Amino acid sequence: MSQDDLKLSVARAAVNYVPEGKIIGVGTGSTANFFIDELARIKDRIAGTVASSKATAERLVSHGIRVFDLNDIHDSIPVYIDGADEISGTGAMIKGGGGALTREKIIASASDRFICIADESKLVTTLGKFPLPVEVIPMAHELIARKLDALGGQARLRLKDGKPFITDNGNVILDISGLQIARPEELERIINNMAGVVTVGLFAQRGANVCLLGSPDGVKVLEF
Ligand code: A5P
Repeated sequence: MSQDDLKLSVARAAVNYVPEGKIIGVGTGSTANFFIDELARIKDRIAGTVASSKATAERLVSHGIRVFDLNDIHDSIPVYIDGADEISGTGAMIKGGGGALTREKIIASASDRFICIADESKLVTTLGKFPLPVEVIPMAHELIARKLDALGGQARLRLKDGKPFITDNGNVILDISGLQIARPEELERIINNMAGVVTVGLFAQRGANVCLLGSPDGVKVLEF
C-alpha cells in the first residue's frame, strides 16, 4: 500500500465523523486534500465549511462546497478534521509543515473535536524529529531564532524558491530542528510567550481528540 492509499483510507474514514447539517472545520495538506475530495461526495449533507488556508478554501470551492468566514459563525464548530506532521500517544501534535499552522490552530480552538487523519508513519513516541514550525512577525525572526536556539534546537528561516516563505497571514516561519519534546504543553507555553511569535506548531494544550491512523492492516482509531 502506498502512502497515498493510506491517506485516502483515513480520508474516507473521516467522512463518518462529519455531522449532518453543520459547518465543519477543514485542515490543510495532502491528507486534508484527500478528505476534501471525499467530502465533495456528501457536500449536500453539510451546511458548509471553514477553511484553514487559502489553498484549502480554493479546493473546497472548486468542489462547490460552501466556505464561511470564521467571523460569520457564532456557534462552536462540531469537528475540525486535519492532518499532522507528527502525533504522540497522548494526541499532542506537530503541525505546520504546509505553513498553515496559525489558521489551523484558530479553527481547532473554535471546534469541539479535533479529528486527526494521518498515515501510521506520523505516530511517534517523542515529538521533535519533524522540525517544529513557528510563525513569526518578519521584523522579529532573527531575535526569535536566537531565543529558540537557546532552547536547544536550531532554528532556520523557511525558504521557498530561495526567498523567505510567506504565510497566508504575511508572516515568516522558523523551523526548529534537533528538539526532543518531552513536555509539549510546557514548550508550547514557553514559545507562545515570546514577543513576535504568532503561533507555534505544537498542538498540545489543544491536541487531537481522535486520530484515524492509516496502516496496511486498516484504519486504527486512537482516542485521547
Ligand atoms: C499544514 O500546515 C500542516 O499542519 C499539515 O496538516 C501537516 O503538515 C500534514 O500535512 P500532510 O497531510 O501533507 O502530511
